[in-house]
Amino acid sequence: MRSTYYITTPIYYVNDVPHIGHAYTTLASDVIARFKRLDEYEVFFLTGTDEHGQKVEAAAKNNGVNPKEFVDKVSENFKNLLNCMNFSNDSFIRTTEEKHIKSCQKIWKKLLNNGNIYLDKYSGWYAVRDEAFFSESEIVDGKAPSGAPVVWVEEPSYFFNLSKWEKKLLEFYESNKDFISPKSRRNEVISFVKSGLKDLSISRTSFSWGVKVPNDKNHIMYVWLDALTNYLSACEYSNEKNDEVFKKFWPADIHMVGKDIIRFHAVYWPAFLMAADLPLPKKVFAHGWWTNEGNKISKSLGNVIDPFQLVDKYGIDQIRYFLLREVPFGNDGDFSNSQLINRINSDLANSYGNLFQRVVSMIFKNCNEKIPLKPNNFNIEDLTLINSIKNSLNDYRILIDEQKFDQYLKNIWVIISNANKYVDEQAPWALKKNNFERMEVVLFTLVETIRQISILLQPFIPDTAEKILDHIKIPRDQRKLESVGFILKGNIKISLPSPLFPRI
Ligand code: MSP
Repeated sequence: MRSTYYITTPIYYVNDVPHIGHAYTTLASDVIARFKRLDEYEVFFLTGTDEHGQKVEAAAKNNGVNPKEFVDKVSENFKNLLNCMNFSNDSFIRTTEEKHIKSCQKIWKKLLNNGNIYLDKYSGWYAVRDEAFFSESEIVDGKAPSGAPVVWVEEPSYFFNLSKWEKKLLEFYESNKDFISPKSRRNEVISFVKSGLKDLSISRTSFSWGVKVPNDKNHIMYVWLDALTNYLSACEYSNEKNDEVFKKFWPADIHMVGKDIIRFHAVYWPAFLMAADLPLPKKVFAHGWWTNEGNKISKSLGNVIDPFQLVDKYGIDQIRYFLLREVPFGNDGDFSNSQLINRINSDLANSYGNLFQRVVSMIFKNCNEKIPLKPNNFNIEDLTLINSIKNSLNDYRILIDEQKFDQYLKNIWVIISNANKYVDEQAPWALKKNNFERMEVVLFTLVETIRQISILLQPFIPDTAEKILDHIKIPRDQRKLESVGFILKGNIKISLPSPLFPRI
């Protein structure tokens, strides 16, 4: 049986228009999902929209429509982003769906029956922008630590006995060292938990846009309990008739999130799950944040980066490549147009694009429009190039499992640069005159290297990799990771290529 792999993105608040931050989290998840499919896993890649809560209710009001009408309309923006960035999600969950609402109520009942929920009264600060509660001691200059404005809230509320789970959480982090990545985030979470957990308010009574608490119509569930439960809903947690999908995919292999929402995923979520007797996800990875030319991205500064515009201007694969190559995943990064253009011109157009262009054109012009037949007289230089990926396939698997996307790409670009050097050193244009047979070996070696590189690049730049593999006529069923280990047979008719990445 094939192993399964369940990967999730956060579900996005629909009050915002999709921006580069949203595109980034889903892109990283998309690359992992695509890689795992290449490696023959049965993948379930989930994304979706977070449609309840005070923030969304307020946005609907501002737009003069009722919340349901509002979310139906704006969740489409996030669906459009999927197409725009060529994301390959298997499912899209909306928290206003019936099956999600059922699943929230199911987990609530479980928590209640297990004695982890009690009714009391909340009084404290609430930041609508963060949808989070804060105690007096957490308030900095009258604001939430994130800078979001806070309001004082006093209302009846159900509480989750989070404090009871402190020790169990710490034990869990200790015995699952990779649960929180990268390491800096892990330390941050552990010291937060060690500093003492307070019980968590998990229902609200002062507005109504949310999932109703079972058996108490005055309360709706706290939007984060509702939102986190999407990971269960999407794999059929509430399906009482058939639990196969749930058994197959839960627990998730990885929740991909931004660093701002690590606490919800690495503290509250595992505590809820433990308290509901459910297995815990295997990993939460928190990536860093993008700034724009050195400035924090915010609507009020008017410097939000629109992924639709970027893709329109530079191309999908160009943007996908840049976002994951430019900054080590996990670190913060600064978006700069000149850096983007540099990467496109130097890495994509001059290195990879040019390698493909010159090799395929030489074959077309000199070898009767055919990739030469596989030779059996490779020399050591040829073999070094041909075997450089084959012999390190497992390293690429590890890099994906550790979310080191930039390193993965750097490794491949070393091979691309070696291949370009090899072209210059072997000088097939000179061989053409005095050693035609050797020229064929050289061109074969190059096209074989391009084949392997392009297989490995499919998760990152799917359109271009497909174009190349189509161009050199690699059958669809020979584009899996394992196929890297094969070797071309050759004698393949090809056409003259057009440039893959126009220079900017
Ligand atoms: N709805 C919650 C998540 C619930 S998951 C159960 C939420 N939504 S969000 O739309 O505000 O943010 C979603 C993601 O976008 C987060 O992972 C966040 O880190 C990411 N980003 C938002 N702005 C960003 C940048 N400027 N840079 C990188 N990512 C950022 O939180």
